[in-house]
Amino acid sequence: MSALQPSHLLSTRDLRDSDLQTLFKATKKFKCQSSPALLSGKTIVQCFIENSTRTRSSFETAVRRLGGTNLGFSASTSSLKKGESLLDTAQNIQALGADAIVLRHSENGAAHLLARALDVSIINAGDGTHEHPSQALLDAFTLLEALGSLKGKRVLILGDILHSRVARSNFHLLKSLGAKVTVCAPGTLLPPSVQTLGVSVASRLEDALAETDVVMALRVQLERHATPLLPSLAEYARFWGLGAQRLRLLKKGALLLHPGPVNWGVELMPEAKTFDGNLILQQVENGVYMRMAILGWLLNPEGMRKNV
Ligand code: CP
Repeated sequence: MSALQPSHLLSTRDLRDSDLQTLFKATKKFKCQSSPALLSGKTIVQCFIENSTRTRSSFETAVRRLGGTNLGFSASTSSLKKGESLLDTAQNIQALGADAIVLRHSENGAAHLLARALDVSIINAGDGTHEHPSQALLDAFTLLEALGSLKGKRVLILGDILHSRVARSNFHLLKSLGAKVTVCAPGTLLPPSVQTLGVSVASRLEDALAETDVVMALRVQLERHATPLLPSLAEYARFWGLGAQRLRLLKKGALLLHPGPVNWGVELMPEAKTFDGNLILQQVENGVYMRMAILGWLLNPEGMRKNV
């Protein structure tokens, strides 16, 4: 690979404007044309050491559509269960002939660790509470598709910001695309000094909803709450959940995102399913095309230049 060609996707912070243009252009193209065999002869390992539905399935689908091979890996039946370390596991996967590892892991920095130690491309599919760059990229693509541009648009990120890798990857990417990002959450679910990440904090949800162009609701990640941070989910739903009354506060044409999985009745009430601006399933659909773009960009940049 040339010095200018990235080898890994670890964080949205690493993406240059030219990378973003390539990824968005390729995603759009893959959505409306037959898929080129950009990954012919390439082997990609889906190394998910934390549960996933959308991310894993869409990376697997993206590999197949581009003519590559998915090497099966199941954390629960792997030698991780016998105590083999992540690094040893990954080095052995590399020795088996992998060209890329798509890694989801519960520890912050796991993808960076492998990127430093291995010669294969590492794609961060979510590391702890740190980053989930492919999710932020598909979120941004979905918004660009709907709005044309994010310059000056107000995006409200609502919910469990403290534990959200999706929020962290989105903060940087949305700002670099010109959006103004605000967060709103119970105090216990806001990281200390979150403003230093370049976002504003809304003190009253109802006021923030009335001003926003896009609201991105986040899952309450109870499994990461080491100590109780909320009195109850029912109370969260009452004060922070988006139901008919709060959705009515949004401007006409406002959009609703959620990275999934949704806790229906907690972050979103059933009325959100039929809300006009609900793009949640478009996010999932676009996730396949964005992940095709990411794989082609990392593993076959020359093919991407010819086909996109
Ligand atoms: N958005 C997301 O990461 O979903 P999964 O956990 O199902 O992959």
